[in-house]
Amino acid sequence: MRILNLYHSQTGNTHKIALRIAETARSLGHSVDTLQAAKELEADVLAYDFFFVGSGVYQWLPGKPMLDFLRATRQRYSQEGHIRPCSPRLPGKHAVIYCTYGGVHTGINEAVPAVKFCGQLFDHLGITVLDEWYFIGDFKSDEFKSHNTGGRFGDIHGRPDERDLKDVAERVQAILTV
Ligand SMILES: Cc1cc2nc3c(=O)[nH]c(=O)nc-3n(C[C@H](O)[C@H](O)[C@H](O)COP(=O)(O)O)c2cc1C
Repeated sequence: MRILNLYHSQTGNTHKIALRIAETARSLGHSVDTLQAAKELEADVLAYDFFFVGSGVYQWLPGKPMLDFLRATRQRYSQEGHIRPCSPRLPGKHAVIYCTYGGVHTGINEAVPAVKFCGQLFDHLGITVLDEWYFIGDFKSDEFKSHNTGGRFGDIHGRPDERDLKDVAERVQAILTV
């Protein structure tokens, strides 16, 4: 399959996940394009069969470059007539949407809007969202370091760690094998 591995990562956490996704999907023989989301990025989305789309969560939503990419791409495909009422399915096209998040205040609930938001461009195009994945990601800047303990998930220093990345590889392997 041709896979688009699209992500935004401000502090490196989602980047780690995206790299493990690419590595695993390639090891299974798929062709993978790894792209960083940006307003100016004009990815030929409909040329791909499978999508991994991920971002860090910022104030409950994906980071701005991902938001900008999704909005600009929606507009472009809408103008080209690819976004139609009832969003008819495009056979054989599937996506996994994921995020990394701290969940300090309300746990997974503060990450759900980001993942749902990211999924809608693909769902609108007729690409079926197969799964949504949530990975814990710690805070890197001194300003927020105190959030790495004492939130809903306790001590999240160093996440995503090697165990999380092993989980990523296993999930990718499973979803690309069904
Ligand atoms: C300014 C700022 C806002 C954040 N907002 C949220 C949030 O609303 N919900 C959440 O669960 N995590 C939040 N986080 C934590 C990040 O989502 C988490 O560290 C993520 O792994 C960052 O991913 P990245 O390094 O790929 O950008 C925030 C972090 C920062 C620095």
